[in-house]
Amino acid sequence: MQPSVVWALKPLADMSAAEFHDWQTLLEERTGVVISEQRRAFLQTNLSARMRELGVDDYADYYRRVTDGPRGALEWSTLLDRLTVQETRFFRHRASFELLAEYLPARLGERPLALWSVGCSSGEEAYSLAISAAEVLRAADSSAQFGVTATDISLNALSKAQAGLYSARRLEALDLELCQRYFLPQADGRFKVVPSLAARVCCARLNVLELAKAPLSGMDVIFCQNLLIYFRRWRRREILNRLAERLAPGGLLVIGVGEVVGWQHPDLVPVADERVLAFTRKG
Ligand SMILES: C[S@@+](CC[C@H](N)C(=O)[O-])C[C@H]1O[C@@H](n2cnc3c(N)ncnc32)[C@H](O)[C@@H]1O
Repeated sequence: MQPSVVWALKPLADMSAAEFHDWQTLLEERTGVVISEQRRAFLQTNLSARMRELGVDDYADYYRRVTDGPRGALEWSTLLDRLTVQETRFFRHRASFELLAEYLPARLGERPLALWSVGCSSGEEAYSLAISAAEVLRAADSSAQFGVTATDISLNALSKAQAGLYSARRLEALDLELCQRYFLPQADGRFKVVPSLAARVCCARLNVLELAKAPLSGMDVIFCQNLLIYFRRWRRREILNRLAERLAPGGLLVIGVGEVVGWQHPDLVPVADERVLAFTRKG
């Protein structure tokens, strides 16, 4: 067997309790994502896979490398994609999108509609919001405009969202009519979001722990699904409080069902629909 193959197969030693704690803390401080003791194996497997690629066999050495200035920042951005869950789908939670389709017609007016996908991953949620808005405008024969802001901490996820290229398999969740209207088949078998829809979606890097710095306000719709589940309870509430401030009067905030329990905000009214977890802003 060649030496490089032996190296690739060599298992890394188990992380010590102190090393686990350091990595856990770093990830939580930088992203809010909590790796519980039960997910220690997940952390170790993903860290060691990356360490093998770099030829590093010591967790503490790699920690120093990741936290070392600008060079560390670059490595961190690669590692981040290994340590965060980026799974997503078009129209992932149907009932939330049904609520959106019922809600949007009443918001049509002079002002362009502003929608936001928080933790957009590779863009499926943002384009689902864009398709929903486009369909509402189409049905109302309205010339109103809309824009979707798609934000995520991961630059890699954002570049996929920006490209708007999806395999046929990823489009299975969409009605054929919507596929034909909003996607163009490519020579390689994939499908690309049509330019008129892509032009409505703007992708930007944003860490939800730094919402105070985000110049976003007056949003008609905010979707924040399958992101807060990885955070501590107090942090989920704090982020939701910040998102609530970004809603326009009457705006709609949609969260993943079960992602927060018992949260209330003085300016928000819960939507009376058991299938969703959503709030509208008063006024
Ligand atoms: C499971 S995906 C959810 C995608 C989509 N919202 C959905 O429901 O299908 C979670 C996304 O949150 C992003 N994320 C994790 N921590 C974040 C943070 N602190 N700020 C912004 N995005 C973050 C990840 O990069 C990932 O793309």
